[in-house]
Amino acid sequence: MEFESVEFNLSQYLDSQCRLINTTLENYLKTVANSSRLTQAMQYSLMAGGKRLRPVLCMASCEAIGGCAQETLPAACAMEMIHTYSLIHDDLPAMDDDALRRGKPTCHVQFDEATAILAGDALLTMAFQMLSDHAVTKNNHTDRWLRVIQRVSRAAGCQGMIEGQMRDIVAEHAVLSPSALERLHALKTGALIEAAIVSGAILGGGSEDQIRDLTSYAGYIGLAFQVKDDVLNVAGDPELLGKGVGTDAQRQKSTYPSLMGLEASEQFASSLIDKALQSLASFDQRSDPLRAMAEYIIVRQH
Ligand code: IPE
Ligand code: IPE
Ligand code: MG
Ligand code: MG
Repeated sequence: MEFESVEFNLSQYLDSQCRLINTTLENYLKTVANSSRLTQAMQYSLMAGGKRLRPVLCMASCEAIGGCAQETLPAACAMEMIHTYSLIHDDLPAMDDDALRRGKPTCHVQFDEATAILAGDALLTMAFQMLSDHAVTKNNHTDRWLRVIQRVSRAAGCQGMIEGQMRDIVAEHAVLSPSALERLHALKTGALIEAAIVSGAILGGGSEDQIRDLTSYAGYIGLAFQVKDDVLNVAGDPELLGKGVGTDAQRQKSTYPSLMGLEASEQFASSLIDKALQSLASFDQRSDPLRAMAEYIIVRQH
């Protein structure tokens, strides 16, 4: 018997998840913020209007295995805090030296360099405060929350994103092999995306097999996401992107377009998304948001 397939409405899904995420972020900020310059800078960057992909992926991963997505919100929002901190530091003069982010002046331009460094530090710390606050006060599935804290801290630090950022800086002006570039991308961007997805699965009570398949999905979309980011840096519209274009070439960054050209990069990203979708073969329609997100990652214009 054939069932009529219902088109999954991604933009409606993203709207409603982003509303939940933004409200949770605002509320948590209120509990720690005062009117200090530091918390103003944290609020400025955190609420500047990012796509919230990592928290949405965290929630969608939990949903895919039949868990309650809203219960992941503290983890989902912690991922966004870490991501925003990484962007603030990524934009600093000593790093990528960018002036525009999320359609606004970067944190160090709007405030100053020292404030931006400290706002990033504080957002990173706040992420683990939010995770541990939840684990301690709710006293519900504390073991799962502890696993999430372990997973996220590993992904954010010297075995994940920070090592990726280091390699990205060291690779300026160099030509990397395809495997070295893939590893760099997996660390700098993939690690946090994978941690978001695996955290959602852990909190939803996913089996080891489910976590393995979702890790595989995450690896493919994480790489595709950064390849697309690199493509948009060459061919994107700065108005839509809310950040500068052509900056990777200016700084002689190691990127997929610089290694294999634009068209081959787009094809590579698309082949990665095919593999990501194959990784979801054993999941039912509750993984439709994850499928739609995978497809969105390579067609997005911002
Ligand atoms: C940009 O991430 C930086 C990368 C890791 C490639 P996003 O494209 O998710 O940025 P926002 O959160 O929407 O601003
Ligand atoms: C940002 O990578 C990665 C992290 C912040 C960890 P990029 O430097 O390539 O991203 P954009 O283009 O500035 O957003
Ligand atoms: Mg960078
Ligand atoms: Mg950058």
